Amino acid sequence: MTETPIAGTEKTAVKLAWPDLLQMKREGRKIPVLTCYDHPTAKILTAAGVRALLVGDSAAMTVLGYDSTIHATMDFMVTITAAVRRGAPDCFLMADMPFGSYPDAPTATRNALRFLQESHADIVKMECDHRHEPIVQALSAAGIPLCAHLGLLPQKAAFEGAYRAQGRTPEAAAKLVAQAQRLAAAGTPMLLLEAVPDAVSAQIVAAVPGVVIGCGAGASCDGHVVVLHDVLGFNARPARFVEVLTNVPERISHAARQYFLDVTQGRYPASRHAYHMKTTSPGE
Ligand code: KIV
Repeated sequence: MTETPIAGTEKTAVKLAWPDLLQMKREGRKIPVLTCYDHPTAKILTAAGVRALLVGDSAAMTVLGYDSTIHATMDFMVTITAAVRRGAPDCFLMADMPFGSYPDAPTATRNALRFLQESHADIVKMECDHRHEPIVQALSAAGIPLCAHLGLLPQKAAFEGAYRAQGRTPEAAAKLVAQAQRLAAAGTPMLLLEAVPDAVSAQIVAAVPGVVIGCGAGASCDGHVVVLHDVLGFNARPARFVEVLTNVPERISHAARQYFLDVTQGRYPASRHAYHMKTTSPGE
């Protein structure tokens, strides 16, 4: 089957790799990251210049309609991460370890390897606290690049029933900074901070050598990620740090309504959409 190009998309230049991210950090160039869950969207986002994509377990909510991220499974995440990779062969691709996929070091290693080998991701992301240090060490020893997700941890928040900003008291901030340092020392080259004050992010950026991506974590981070569906207007109650940039549901609704009216009022299909009879049979 020939692939139909999506209007406005074009092939991006060269692959964005880990050394490029480090270089961007050193030069103070911010790294834009968006979540992405499918092949056509990956093509559009990278052609628009966003060259680092995160296949987040937020897919359980944005794509599958669950009320938390804990319903994402390994097989589902591996499949959609591979789809994003096919759409964006040159992007820096981050894959999210879903709930239950890293209960111990051997299981985490096995599952992380699936993302690298089956989905062709560049790095795996894991929600971490101090208890995950041995797993981080094991992944690092296995040569698996890891992004440690700190701050608001949606997989944990789902059980607590509250999605709250973290590190807002001096004690909580100091704990987060210490945790970030320990995880960096355990071998994680990248951190993702979710919903923490900028002052805490600034301390962490200064305290660790790796790349720090923020999600509602202030301007000091080396790069920023947001959930694509929030930016596109799918979420009726986005978090305060989300800038809604367009209203895609409205556009889909408009197109669907047009289709409904065209069919019910007899405008579709028209003669130009039809296959017409040939005047002669083959061989005649
Ligand atoms: O799953 C996800 O999309 C994430 C982002 C919120 C950072 O982890």
